[in-house]
Amino acid sequence: MMRQSSLVVVANRLPLDDNVAPDGACEWRRSPGGLASALHAILEGTTATWVGWGGGIGAAPPLPDIGTLRLRPVALSEDELRGYYEGFANTTLWPLYHDAVEQPVFDRGWWETYRTVNRRFAEAAAEVAEPGAAVWVQDYHLQLVPQMIRELRPDVLIGFFMHVPFPPPELFMQLPRRLELLGGMLGADLVGFQREQAAHNVAQLAGKMLGARGADDAIIYDGRVVRTGAFPVSIDVTEMEALSARPYVLNQARQLKHDLGQHKKVLLSVDRLDYTKGIEHRLTAYSELLRDGRIKVRDTVMVQVAVPSRERVESYRGLKDRIEREVGRINGEYGRVGEPAIHYLNQPFDRADLAALYRTADVMVVTPLRDGMNLVAKEYVAARADDTGALVLSEFAGAAAELQDAFQVNPHDLDGLKKTLLDALDATPADLRRRMQAMRAHITENDIHAWARAYLSALDHTGQLARRLPRQ
Ligand code: ADP
Ligand code: G6P
Repeated sequence: MMRQSSLVVVANRLPLDDNVAPDGACEWRRSPGGLASALHAILEGTTATWVGWGGGIGAAPPLPDIGTLRLRPVALSEDELRGYYEGFANTTLWPLYHDAVEQPVFDRGWWETYRTVNRRFAEAAAEVAEPGAAVWVQDYHLQLVPQMIRELRPDVLIGFFMHVPFPPPELFMQLPRRLELLGGMLGADLVGFQREQAAHNVAQLAGKMLGARGADDAIIYDGRVVRTGAFPVSIDVTEMEALSARPYVLNQARQLKHDLGQHKKVLLSVDRLDYTKGIEHRLTAYSELLRDGRIKVRDTVMVQVAVPSRERVESYRGLKDRIEREVGRINGEYGRVGEPAIHYLNQPFDRADLAALYRTADVMVVTPLRDGMNLVAKEYVAARADDTGALVLSEFAGAAAELQDAFQVNPHDLDGLKKTLLDALDATPADLRRRMQAMRAHITENDIHAWARAYLSALDHTGQLARRLPRQ
């Protein structure tokens, strides 16, 4: 049996991903996505256990510790991967929680698998939690886990944090298993969200569906008080600042600038290839600007990084095909020999190469149709210590509530999007500096360490938990 910990984090993914190297060997790589980026940054020097899936099928090979962080893998079979992860989590909950920008699918078989797998995660967490430990459950994949842990281990403190948006009641009410999903989450002592609105939505639903009483920050349910609140997640600002100042990164950035065209303005987008990210709307806006002659390939270039994601899920495959067709069309119509209108990169990058891309971009275009937070926007700001560069940011990203000095835009409004891109391209250095300084001051104050401290000290009033983090 594995040693027990006083802090246990439970997330669908471990921070390392099982990846097959070109020579067939198994190699470990940092997992994609905001959750892994955020938690990895705070847990790296903490004595804790992270319970999660290692990215493969069947029993995971033995996993190395990451410093003082122990990893406890949870195995998934092929059927479970399809029903729990690709099915219920990513074809039912994910689209529904993102404003149903893609039609959610309700499948009864997936639900059964979701419940079975949630129980497995709860049992693994119960096994590695020492008496009186804190167990911190993450995200929509594991919404039943808080209540399951409460039944297995009533002695532990239970936290839950939802990284994605929590939808308005009228959307949540569509879920055939809404009662179980709501009750499962309310098994926690503290439920955290990215935005206040989410806590309000949950309080309303709990009152209506579960007969709970209380307010937006405390729900009385099942004879207990469940506290709720907004804790906007962030990034390791110091790490990104340091990374983007490294000689390798600066050289890479210079090389990229040279390769893209020394005199050209560079528009950059970096997303998982996901329909919530608004990639198609963005391509349409860019292509119309070229068509209208408002921008020219001889002085502007776009780089779209779209890291592969959930590749077996049908809606993601369809999206990839559509994006690749559109990129081909735009390059075919507007590109010139040796001068494409768009560089499309459907591949993962390591952090240093991402930082070099951020340093190269004159305009960072972050235009999701709905996003819990969007850490890419914050990473860009942290990488621009020289106070240059413009951030175009969707109003529908959680980050918009904090980064008020970005060029904010409604990505559904194509004319508005086109105008905002031009405004960002034409902004004066003084305007950009003012905006960037204000945004950097905000994220420096509200970095990932502040997030973890705020959440953990709300979960545990004695402050003991928060004191265990590597940086105070
Ligand atoms: P999401 O969690 O929905 O993917 P976020 O913007 O919050 O969106 O987080 C994405 C994270 O994944 C960021 O930390 C970003 O640096 C990382 N990332 C995005 N694209 C790539 C890529 N091509 N290669 C490696 N990491 C990436
Ligand atoms: C979002 C979710 C995370 C998830 C990440 C990457 O950030 O909130 O829970 O890990 O996307 O998605 P994936 O399906 O690859 O884990």
